[in-house]
Amino acid sequence: MKSFAELGVKKDIVNVLSSLNFVKPLEVQELIVPLALQGKNVVFTSRTGSGKTLAYLLGFLGKINNKAGVQMIVMVPTRELCIQVGKEMKKICDLLNIKIGVLYGGRDMGGDHKTLVRKNQIYVGTPGRLIQHINEKHIRVGDVNYVVYDESDQMFDQGFYDECVYLKSRVCKNAQIILSSATITEKVQEFIQKEIVTFEYLKIGVLIPETITQEIMFCKIQDKNAAVLKLFSKKKFKRAIIFCNTKVRSNGVAKFLDFNKYVCRVLNSDLEQKDRQNYLNLFKESKVKVIIATDVAARGLHIENVDIVVNYDVPTKLEFYVHRIGRTGRGINKGYALTFVCPEDVERFKTIKEMFDLNVKEIK
Ligand SMILES: Nc1ncnc2c1ncn2[C@@H]1O[C@H](COP(=O)(O)OP(=O)(O)OP(=O)(O)O)[C@@H](O)[C@H]1O
Ligand SMILES: [Mg+2]
Repeated sequence: MKSFAELGVKKDIVNVLSSLNFVKPLEVQELIVPLALQGKNVVFTSRTGSGKTLAYLLGFLGKINNKAGVQMIVMVPTRELCIQVGKEMKKICDLLNIKIGVLYGGRDMGGDHKTLVRKNQIYVGTPGRLIQHINEKHIRVGDVNYVVYDESDQMFDQGFYDECVYLKSRVCKNAQIILSSATITEKVQEFIQKEIVTFEYLKIGVLIPETITQEIMFCKIQDKNAAVLKLFSKKKFKRAIIFCNTKVRSNGVAKFLDFNKYVCRVLNSDLEQKDRQNYLNLFKESKVKVIIATDVAARGLHIENVDIVVNYDVPTKLEFYVHRIGRTGRGINKGYALTFVCPEDVERFKTIKEMFDLNVKEIK
C-alpha cells in the first residue's frame, strides 16, 4: 500500500490529512488520485463506504489557488448528501485556507446569500439550486476546471441528466470530469459516451462489502412488523435503518415502532429540510435509535455504527439494494442487512440477486 505522498499528494496536504487521522490511502484513493492528478477524466465505481469522497477531493485539491475564484464543483443528488460531503471536505479545506460553499434546495435564499458572498474556491450542490445560482450569475463557473458528479447514476436516473450536461457546458471547455458511484446504469454509459468521450474507467474491488451479512426472509406483508420487532429484540444494536418503498409505508412502520416504544423518526421527502437534517443529527447522536426512510437516505450517507439495515420492501430500482445495505458495514465495521421478500417480490429479488451476485442466506 502506497502513502499519500507517493500518490502525488502535496506535502502540506499530507500533513493536514495526518492531523485529521487519515494516515494511509484506501484502495480507491490509491487508484483514483494519481489518475485524477494527471488531469484525466475518470469514471469509477467502488463499493459503499470505501472512501470515494476523499478520492475525488485529493485528485484536485493540490491544484486549487486559494486566492482565485471557483475552480471545483461537486454535484450530488440529495440535500443531506450535499451537507455531508461539504462537511467532510471542509474539515480538510479549512486547514488549507481553501473555502467551500454548499448550495442545496429547500433552504431559503437568505442562507445561500451568506455562502455566495464569500469567495469560495469549491462548491458542492444539488442540481436545481446550483444551476439556479449559475444562471442568476451568483456564481461564475467559467474558470471551473474540475467537475465531480457524485452518485452520478442516481442524478441521471432521477431526471437531472440535462442539468448535468448543462453544468458541463458552462464550465471551462477542457474541465476535467469525474464520475463516482457504487453502481453504474445505462444513463451513465450514455453520458460518458456522449459528453466525456475520453476517460479512464475503473471498477474497483467487489461491489458489496464483505463486512455485510445479508439475510432474506420470505413473508407476507402483514408479517413484516412482527418480524422487525423480533429482529430488534434478538439482535443487539445501536442504530438501525428501515427502508420502505413509499412514504405512506414509512409512516405506518414508524407509528408501529413508536407504539412499541422504539425511539424512531421518519425520513422522507414530505418533511421540511430542517426536520430531515435534525432527525439525522439525532440519529447520529444516538438520541434516536431507528430511522424509517425512503430512498432519499439510501445513497452516500455516512453514519457511524449503523448495525442493522432492513429492506422492509424490496427496492423497485434494483441498484438501490446495494446503496441501502451499504449504510451498514462501512469501512472495516461489520454490518447486517435483512430483506423481506413477499410473494410478489420474488422475481424482482431474484433479478437483484443475479445482477449483483449476492451472497444471501434465507432465514425463517
Ligand atoms: N484514507 C482514509 N483513512 C481512514 N478513513 C478514511 C479514509 N478515507 C476515507 N475515510 C473515511 O471513510 C468513511 C467513508 O467514506 P465515504 O463516505 O467517502 O464513502 P463512499 O465510498 O463515498 O460511500 P458511498 O458509496 O456510500 O457514498 C468516511 O468516514 C471517511 O472519513
Ligand atoms: Mg459517497
